[in-house]
Amino acid sequence: MLKRIDIPGATLSVNDIGQGSPILFVHGFPLDRTMWREQVADLSRDFRCVVPDLRGFGQSTVTAGKVTMERFADDLGELLDALQITESVVLCGLSMGGYIAWQFARRHAARLRGLILCDTRAAPDSSDAAANRLRLADDVVSLGPEVVVKAMLPKLVAPGFKVREPLWIEEIRQVMLATNSHGIAAASRGMAERADARPWLATIECPALVLVGEQDVISPPAEMSEIASALPRSTFRVIPDAGHLAPLENPQPVNEAIRTFLAATSFSTTTNE
Ligand code: MLT
Repeated sequence: MLKRIDIPGATLSVNDIGQGSPILFVHGFPLDRTMWREQVADLSRDFRCVVPDLRGFGQSTVTAGKVTMERFADDLGELLDALQITESVVLCGLSMGGYIAWQFARRHAARLRGLILCDTRAAPDSSDAAANRLRLADDVVSLGPEVVVKAMLPKLVAPGFKVREPLWIEEIRQVMLATNSHGIAAASRGMAERADARPWLATIECPALVLVGEQDVISPPAEMSEIASALPRSTFRVIPDAGHLAPLENPQPVNEAIRTFLAATSFSTTTNE
């Protein structure tokens, strides 16, 4: 069921499907909640899947200017309040959703039962990368979302997926093209100034599952393996036949890994593997 939830300064569209322990899914950039459809179809049979469009994306309202990762994380806290979810949640974030997850873990630690980090980074942008993002933000506002499609789509998925699933590629393209230019620009500016999360990985106490597509060129397996090593209670899984959008490209092993992780975290007994 699609809900419209008012939070301070925005109205978020959110799918709230299933019953049981809540999983909060946080999409990547510049996508929307539909990127999680393969996880929701499976996991909503046993869990409550809360799947928002972030501020500025999908059908949520847009905040022009800049939206920081801190702001996105606080939006998620407000969303949980509005949905009256008081028990702790497992947050599953992909890429930008992972950048937001680091902030959620810092600012709302008591609300977290576990973290699932898909194809993301803990390091900040280099100064060149940050400058590119700021340029991209200005270009998107003046030229439209085609600019970001051109810059990002070729890198998002593994080459084999492009051949295997041309309709999916077209769908991803359409999601990006439908995204509001000011929403894209605001998140780009926020990502450009995001903090270095590496110094606080060792302080994240909840269990974590770290997943990466074996052909991810944006957040490569070697870098994600370092994140997993720095987290005190983590499990690391490389997903075959997948790039940066591993949950969408190869959902079956992703869903299996998530189910195994959730089975362990509900008893809070997970330790380093
Ligand atoms: C994403 O998938 O969210 C993006 O790759 C994040 C980024 O541009 O750093």
